[in-house]
Amino acid sequence: MERRDFIKTGLISAAAPTLILADVETIKRSRNPMALSTWNHGLKANEEAMKLLLSQGNALDAVEAGVKISEADPTIQSVGLGGRPDKDGHVTLDACIMDSQGNAGSVAYLQDIKHPVSVARKVMELTDHVMLVGQGAKSFAITHGFKEENLLTEESRTAWLKWKKKLGKKDDLGPNDDHDTISLLAQDSIGNLAGACTTSGLAYKIPGRVGDSPIIGAGLFVDNEIGAAGATGRGEEVIKVAGSFLIVELMRQGYAPQDACKEALGRTIGRHDGELAFQIAYIALRKDGEIGAAAIRKGFKYALSSGNKNKLHSVKGIIN
Ligand code: GLY
Repeated sequence: MERRDFIKTGLISAAAPTLILADVETIKRSRNPMALSTWNHGLKANEEAMKLLLSQGNALDAVEAGVKISEADPTIQSVGLGGRPDKDGHVTLDACIMDSQGNAGSVAYLQDIKHPVSVARKVMELTDHVMLVGQGAKSFAITHGFKEENLLTEESRTAWLKWKKKLGKKDDLGPNDDHDTISLLAQDSIGNLAGACTTSGLAYKIPGRVGDSPIIGAGLFVDNEIGAAGATGRGEEVIKVAGSFLIVELMRQGYAPQDACKEALGRTIGRHDGELAFQIAYIALRKDGEIGAAAIRKGFKYALSSGNKNKLHSVKGIIN
């Protein structure tokens, strides 16, 4: 079977719904730059990404530049500078990036470096590894010119101290809040896809905890022939279903991006009886420009930018 035919049909297409990717050649000619990202702060990230995309920049540069806006913003307490710390008061960051060639780089449990996404890109481009963690990732970053800085802002420190005061003896985790990871997916003017995902992870997590965001296939996945997907929300649950990879594979089988996102959430919902006390949301961008977004609970928003429009959209939760 030719690769092109294989891409079109997938391995289990007999059981799949109507195939939408009718002509890969047509899809490759797509010329509509767009950026799709999670949460309100996705708007500013999209704006930055679109500056590059609309001046013939490539998708990889665009996703990196976009999420760096969130990483550098101290008021966003879920990403980069100003991120909520772990239980011991350390801000530890996770991020990954993927290009149109299927190359990937990632860092986890990285401290004192404001732009983990850029370190992840260096891992991808300068090493034959995919993932560096902890002190190794930090040393690598410093070797490559990244500046060491304190990422714990006064606001995040004060909130952490307040949380610590309330902490019962048996508590391991922080509040069940939405921790607003940014995933950004982009398509450039020659139709190539890329994605990036970056977070400070679950607030007040057990030191050493790593979520889905730096895990290729969980927090992010890009297949330039099919599409890209990214996640936000409770990372442990996203990892268990390889959420972003699953969505791309479902799109390969013919699921619309929206249905693929819902199906991936369904796998998680199916694993839990009764009320789910956490949030997960996915975004997906198919090669032909169709997008999807779905969330377990209400409150999730995504930002979509195409042409000169950049808008925030609310998503109704599957459960409430
Ligand atoms: N989705 C981000 C995290 O769980 O760390």
